[in-house]
Amino acid sequence: MSTIILGIESSCDDTSAAVIKDGYILSNYIANQDVHKAYGGVVPELASRAHQQNIIPVVDQALKTAGVRKEEVSAVAFTRGPGLLGSLLVGTSFAKSFALAMDIPLVEVNHLQAHILVHFIKQFEKENKQPEFPFLCLLVSGGHTQIVVVKDYLDMQIIGQTIDDAAGEAFDKCAKVIGLPYPGGPVIDKNAKLGNKEAFTFNKPKIKDLDYSFSGLKTSFLYFIRDEMKKDADFVKNNMNDLCASIQYTIIDILMEKLVLASKQTGIKQIAVAGGVSANSGLRNTFIQEAKKNGWETFIPEFKFTTDNAAMIGITGYYKYQNKEFAAQDIAPVARFVY
Ligand code: KG4
Ligand code: ZN
Repeated sequence: MSTIILGIESSCDDTSAAVIKDGYILSNYIANQDVHKAYGGVVPELASRAHQQNIIPVVDQALKTAGVRKEEVSAVAFTRGPGLLGSLLVGTSFAKSFALAMDIPLVEVNHLQAHILVHFIKQFEKENKQPEFPFLCLLVSGGHTQIVVVKDYLDMQIIGQTIDDAAGEAFDKCAKVIGLPYPGGPVIDKNAKLGNKEAFTFNKPKIKDLDYSFSGLKTSFLYFIRDEMKKDADFVKNNMNDLCASIQYTIIDILMEKLVLASKQTGIKQIAVAGGVSANSGLRNTFIQEAKKNGWETFIPEFKFTTDNAAMIGITGYYKYQNKEFAAQDIAPVARFVY
């Protein structure tokens, strides 16, 4: 008999539902929240309200597109955390009610594990190459930056992580400094394609082992812009593409240096990337170049699976369902998740 998982994601500002059947994606529907654009960042209170409005239509659409009736769903998987508590509560409450009403198991999912497991989502139209265990994954999102040893679908070990800001945060905060809209990552990426990455240099942090730090870079970028603007009020306007290219290059350089070190230390040469920042074209290109240099076999997710989506929650739910790892009705979401 087939296993059909309804995945629900509501950790930040995207409301998403997906249907996964025996590991194959049938649908993945995402409602983005434009309401935050005017504020230059996600406003938690507005995010929860928008989730509340979006959740039913999004689930409806995901089931319809998949051609699946709610009576056919084997289990409902939801993001338990990490994320914004008010946002998580909407998805969690919906999933609990759905499980209760349909009398099916409830599966809690760690959002970060889910980002990594996108590499196992199967698609009917195309067979994608899947990594073998153990592999390394550079997980780069708006909230997290980690190097993870993936020993099995649900057995992961973090061997390096940021001690302050995440890489996505660095993109978004630097973008804000030069007046770009939220989220800044994709806009920096677009402008960077037209700029010179060596136009400006920024100091890289000196952090031990496999850990990262991005808060110093953001501050030095801020001070640099402030000083240049004192000399030339049009500095940002006249150097926009070069600034984007240079800051993007520095962030990628910081990320890659530790990833290369992690591969050397562990001897693992199957390397994956995941998370919103893995949509970055500069990062994707550098990753391929590093792979050639270091003899890596690489795994890069399709764009639609890089940023937050429920297909990743569905696939993680699918593996947990197979292990019969079910959650109780009294489960609560968590803003921080430690595995
Ligand atoms: O994984 P994600 O959708 O949400 C979190 O779990 O945080 O990641 C969102 C982050 C944002 O910081 C956004 O600016 C960044 O991913 N991002 C990018 C690109 N697309 C999204 N950063 C750089 N280049 C991109 N093309
Ligand atoms: Zn995410």
